[in-house]
Amino acid sequence: MVNIRFANEPDVAAIVDIANWYAANTPANFAIEPEPLEMWLGAWREQRQWYPWLVAEALPGDAAAQDGAIVGFAKASPFRTRCAYRWTVETSVYVRAGWHGRGLGRSLYERVLSIVRRQGYRKVLGGITLPNPASVRLHEHFGFRHIGTMFRVGWKFGQWHDVGFWELEFDGGIASEAPGNIALVREVVGAEVEGHGARG
Ligand SMILES: CC(C)(COP(=O)(O)OP(=O)(O)OC[C@H]1O[C@@H](n2cnc3c(N)ncnc32)[C@H](O)[C@@H]1OP(=O)(O)O)[C@@H](O)C(=O)NCCC(=O)NCCS
Repeated sequence: MVNIRFANEPDVAAIVDIANWYAANTPANFAIEPEPLEMWLGAWREQRQWYPWLVAEALPGDAAAQDGAIVGFAKASPFRTRCAYRWTVETSVYVRAGWHGRGLGRSLYERVLSIVRRQGYRKVLGGITLPNPASVRLHEHFGFRHIGTMFRVGWKFGQWHDVGFWELEFDGGIASEAPGNIALVREVVGAEVEGHGARG
């Protein structure tokens, strides 16, 4: 059994561990060296009020739980920092090796997308190092459409890699209407959020 919940500060170490595994072993993540915990903690502290960070936690009794209780994560982050981009987020999702194909990626993404939609974000972008049929399938399951590919944009493991972008526009992407204010994560999910409430 796996529980999807908001990430708290102690979970960030497991999140980094999962991301660094993909950095070391696959081109899905373009980091070349392991990224330090402090960097990810800084991002979590800075972003968590406005962008959901979720983890999938294996509950005691699940056969594979000895690998570490956190077996996946998904989060939203700012696409770019200039103000006019405020209504656009980028999302990412990682499931620990050995836990694939059990619906965890879908459950994590479903929650993240539902939250950012209720917060008032209008567009979601997902960047995928190609090929990655599982991630493409996952994005298209939620209605993302492929909007383009940046060819040979990353060099890793002795070869060039392409990154495709998939986008999702909420509510049919009504382009002419001015967007409303973005709500805090805690304003749309209420008491279930622990680390997402406090300032700082
Ligand atoms: C992409 C990833 C998150 C998918 O997570 P997962 O828990 O294994 O996926 P799920 O079991 O939830 O399946 C999601 C969908 O992908 C499909 N899928 C899963 N593995 C697949 C594969 N190897 N090939 C094709 N489709 C696949 C499933 O059938 C499902 O499709 P459906 O919604 O139409 O039924 C996981 O493979 C992963 O962590 N990959 C490495 C990191 C990464 O690439 N992240 C995405 C870039 S941000």
